[in-house]
Amino acid sequence: MTSSSPDMSLLRTEMLDICRRMNSTGINQGTAGNISVRTDQGFLITPSSLPYDTMTPDDLVEMDFNGTYIGRRPSSEWRFHRDILKERTDINVVLHCHSIYATTLACHHKTIPSFHYMTGVAGGTDIKCAGYATFGTQALSDNALIALKDRKACLLGQHGQISLGKSLESALWLAIEVETLSRIYVQALTLGEPPVLPDDEMERVIEQMRRMSYGHAPDAEGINDIARPRNN
Ligand code: 13P
Repeated sequence: MTSSSPDMSLLRTEMLDICRRMNSTGINQGTAGNISVRTDQGFLITPSSLPYDTMTPDDLVEMDFNGTYIGRRPSSEWRFHRDILKERTDINVVLHCHSIYATTLACHHKTIPSFHYMTGVAGGTDIKCAGYATFGTQALSDNALIALKDRKACLLGQHGQISLGKSLESALWLAIEVETLSRIYVQALTLGEPPVLPDDEMERVIEQMRRMSYGHAPDAEGINDIARPRNN
C-alpha cells in the first residue's frame, strides 16, 4: 500500500468515518481523542487539534516508527500510538478518547474489576488504569504500555481511555464497551463496592468469548456450538 494507492485513500476515508463516529456515539467530544492505524510503511494518525467534522481524509498524517511524518502536525499522543503499534503486533488500531464514565473512573485511578462478566472483553480479569503523566509525553506512553499488558484496553489516570483492535470497527466497538462497563460500574458503586466474579469463572468467560467471537468482535469468525446457521 503506497501513500497514494487506492487502498490507502480508502483507509483514510474509513478512519475519518470512525473519528466522526467516536464523537457521534458520545464517547468523545470536541478535538479530544486520536486514532492510529498500522500501514505498510508505519502508521496513519489523526492530526493534532483539528475538529473531526471539518477534517478531510488528506489531513490524516503518515508517520513512521522513527517519529518522522508527512503532512500536518500529528496528534500530540503520537508516542503512545507508535509504541503500542510497535509492541503489540496482535493489533492494528489504537483508539484514544475521553469518554465520560471511563474518564470518571480514571480520575480516581480505579481499575475496573470483574464485577461484571463483560470486563473480559478487554482480554483479562480487569481493565487497569495507567498512572498519570502529562499528555503527549514518553512517560504517558510508558505507563500506557504497562497497563495494556495482556489487555486490549486500559484507562489513563486523570485523562481517558485507550482501546485497541485488529480493525477500526473493532477498536470503536471495544471503546464503546469499555465506556458502557464504566458507566455500570460507576452506578454499581453507588450501592457500595460490588462483588467480583472469581478468576476461574472469568477464565471460562474469556475462553467462551474467544471461541464465540462474542459481541461485535469482527476480528474473527465466531463459532457457536449450540446453534448452527441453516442453509435455505
Ligand atoms: P490531539 O488533538 O493532539 O490528538 O490531542 C487530543 C488528546 O486527547 C490528547 O490526549
